[in-house]
Amino acid sequence: MKVLIVENADLVAQMGAEIIRELVDSKPKAVLGLATGSTPIAMYAYLVQIHKLRGLSFKEVSGFNLDEYIGLESDSPQSYRSFMNRSLFDGIDIGLNNTYLPSCGYEDDFNSVASEFENTIRAKGGIDLQILGIGRNGHIGFNEPISSLSSRTRVKTLRQDTIEDNSRFFDEGEFQPFQAMTMGIGTILEAEHILLMATGLEKAKAVRDAIEGPLSAMCPASALQLHKKVTVILDEASAQELENKNYYKWVNEKNKELEAMVSTGHTRGNSCMSEQL
Ligand code: PGA
Repeated sequence: MKVLIVENADLVAQMGAEIIRELVDSKPKAVLGLATGSTPIAMYAYLVQIHKLRGLSFKEVSGFNLDEYIGLESDSPQSYRSFMNRSLFDGIDIGLNNTYLPSCGYEDDFNSVASEFENTIRAKGGIDLQILGIGRNGHIGFNEPISSLSSRTRVKTLRQDTIEDNSRFFDEGEFQPFQAMTMGIGTILEAEHILLMATGLEKAKAVRDAIEGPLSAMCPASALQLHKKVTVILDEASAQELENKNYYKWVNEKNKELEAMVSTGHTRGNSCMSEQL
């Protein structure tokens, strides 16, 4: 994993947006894996700015969201479809018919919705970059603790702590779903590159368990340790419990020194000299 620790949440959002910009610039038909929640909102706002001010086009980009609630109409303001339209899709030129969420109602056949979602990802050539947040309990998507580390897209019943964390999006007395369809951990691990972002002290323990803890279904995000290319961007608060925090910072300083040495001609070599993941 490449662990980048920056001063604050705004820098996390800027760096995340920059990684997406680079990908879409070099691959206009990029396939993005998208996340909802509070963490990516500021990054999506930067992408809208980059689209408007610098002309980055998403016309040929496809987006697959990690998850969607079951039991809400897709036009309900709390559905993840509405969240994505509001936070990103309405502000850029992506074709809505190129955006996919694992949406299903109780009347649908869950298994066929899930396999159609996975087949569509495959038909698009797979996900180039998967964006992830992390839950306080270590979940990625709605893969709650003890999810199978090789799970595929399916329905999960949410844990009480997840429901409490997300209750801020629902008015008192309003129906809050307790089930969702989510990409599985195995599905997520098939993405070419994974970008996990976390901010705030309340994520510090989950971040430590994911990066430095044992590989365990109790912390679904620890499965990312198995992936060949993961970038983690953290603010200082969410990095607080990392035992090797100073080492991650030191590696990044050394990588920057190497880049400077190459660009000023002080050493022969190329940009691949910095540490590989
Ligand atoms: P958050 O949620 O970004 O709202 O903190 C992240 C998650 O639960 O995956």
